Amino acid sequence: MKEKLEEILIKVKEKLKSINDENALNNLRSLTLGKKSEISSLMANFRDLPVEDRKEYGKLINEQKQVLEELFEVKRNQILAEKLKEKLAKEEIDVTIPGAKLPLGSSHILNQVIKDFERLFIGMGYEIKDGPEVEKDLYNFEMLNLEKGHPARAMQDSFYIDLETLLRTHTSPVQARTMLKSEGKPIQIICPGKVYRRDDDDQYHSHQFMQIEGLVVGKNITMSHLKATLLEITKFFFGEDKEIRLRPSYFPFTEPSVEVDVYDGTSYIEILGAGMVHPNVLKMGGYDPNEFTGFAFGIGVERVAMLKYGIDDIRLFYTNDVRFLKQYKGGL
Ligand code: DAH
Repeated sequence: MKEKLEEILIKVKEKLKSINDENALNNLRSLTLGKKSEISSLMANFRDLPVEDRKEYGKLINEQKQVLEELFEVKRNQILAEKLKEKLAKEEIDVTIPGAKLPLGSSHILNQVIKDFERLFIGMGYEIKDGPEVEKDLYNFEMLNLEKGHPARAMQDSFYIDLETLLRTHTSPVQARTMLKSEGKPIQIICPGKVYRRDDDDQYHSHQFMQIEGLVVGKNITMSHLKATLLEITKFFFGEDKEIRLRPSYFPFTEPSVEVDVYDGTSYIEILGAGMVHPNVLKMGGYDPNEFTGFAFGIGVERVAMLKYGIDDIRLFYTNDVRFLKQYKGGL
């Protein structure tokens, strides 16, 4: 019987060598230890033995069973470890492989220009303000000295929502709003934003465009402050050696009024309107024109961008052609 058990053990060990998956191992295990196995039939012989031998015999078989179980267990662990190793090898992550590249966008060129303006003006002590694009007739016109029926309203053909409400035609209404809020204190602000006019779109006109409004109100503010500020803007954007020209002009909300042209090497190009804040505008904003003066300006953002970057069609800013936008990456 002992030899028989030996034999079984050797056979199983031999078979285990060639097994390397769990199913085969389970099959071998039930063949070796299951109901129909040799060991089970040895157990069945148990009853035929003399009583005094039974104890010894049972012990041997049980020990043998345990040895076999351990062999199977060891093999099972080996198979699982091997499987895990393979899985890990397959799933190994190569951290040196370059990542998937996502296309990276950038700030729109007009926003870049606005950011540049903001940097310049913050450096000069200005605050950045914001105003609504859907505006009241009161702020867009009346408080800027353009009462209802004023002929100069015709210069800014508008999109009306109702008789008292429109898409703002310029950023100037922020002047009136800021004066009312500032309650007689000195003011030094700029306000960038979108404005709308009923223009037919062409190379130089767009029904929607951008302006940057500037307003300074205080004591003893003079035209020379305005001129120095305009020169700062020009030098910052177009270079130290650039010249500007102030042309007398007319805006109902400034007196005197000027238009500012930058010399581009061949001709003068208009980039903004400006002037000394009209006494009526100061009064309506809650400032005594005998005590306070101020200057204001309105810059065309597209104009500045076109001049600076040599862009010859305003529609390029708004048609979302990536080939155009890509040329002005940056500002992120
Ligand atoms: N609001 C004017 C326009 O859109 C531009 C302008 C001119 C603004 C003179 C000003 C100014 O603040 O003082 O045509």
